Amino acid sequence: MTDHIQIAKSDGLLTLVIDRPAKKNALTDAMYKALADALESARDDAEVRVVLLRGQGDMFTSGNDVGEFATIAMGGQQPQHVTRFLHAIATATKPIVAAVQGRAVGVGTTMLLHCDHVVLADDALLVTPFVNLALVPEAASSLLLPARIGYVRAFAMFALGEPVTAQDAVAWGLANKAVPASELVATAEAFARRLAAQPVGALIATKQLMRDSAALLAQIDRENQHFFERLKTAEAREAFMAFAERRAPRFAP
Ligand code: COA
Repeated sequence: MTDHIQIAKSDGLLTLVIDRPAKKNALTDAMYKALADALESARDDAEVRVVLLRGQGDMFTSGNDVGEFATIAMGGQQPQHVTRFLHAIATATKPIVAAVQGRAVGVGTTMLLHCDHVVLADDALLVTPFVNLALVPEAASSLLLPARIGYVRAFAMFALGEPVTAQDAVAWGLANKAVPASELVATAEAFARRLAAQPVGALIATKQLMRDSAALLAQIDRENQHFFERLKTAEAREAFMAFAERRAPRFAP
């Protein structure tokens, strides 16, 4: 385990576990580094046929560490590895299976758009509160989410941070199925093992045909320009301060 990311490899499966439950699996730059490194090395590792992504504890992830957002907002250094992680997941060649319990906030939901098979626990909630934090969508989600679920649903998710239940997520095509929480990991692992038994060359070629990596990378870069500019605005600073002070933000004059 490095930096709250557990990494295990066995029988063709690379399992990545986000493991920072005390902070609801909030993702720090060090954690993005560990995830990016693992995804990048999976690309050329013949022992890896499928990647399985999950979170430890009661939640998949509460998204980017808001404390690290606040540091950037106050003039601190831009993160080094988040964009590496987004590029790595957007251009991953091997199939990625995700198992999601509890909340998947922000990048927790947008990373699922780059996964090839998503299993949810019945209690899962997908939430993208970018505008609530005075930010914009990332991870090419401004392209992928409306394409997947339609513009009006995507806009409500982005603009109001409206949580989507596991049942709606399945109905809208954001996930394959919802299962009782006690069956989540076994269900996802069983599917990943079925994939790992398939001819890997054909899986990689199929995934490549289904995803336009160049368009995704271009959209991530467009989004990042807005995202990193917005992080330094007064309204974003107010959102991060409100989170730290456990109060509602005050955006209106
Ligand atoms: N970044 C940093 N710390 C976070 C975090 C995040 N994204 N999410 C949770 N935490 C921390 C809390 O500050 C708290 O720390 P503390 O125990 O030291 O006070 C701990 O994790 C537990 O969180 P808490 O808010 O008490 O849990 P909860 O179950 O009541 O609520 C959430 C969980 C996810 C709904 C809530 O924590 C939340 O809204 N987090 C922010 C999500 C977010 O905006 N992410 C960025 C998206 S772009």
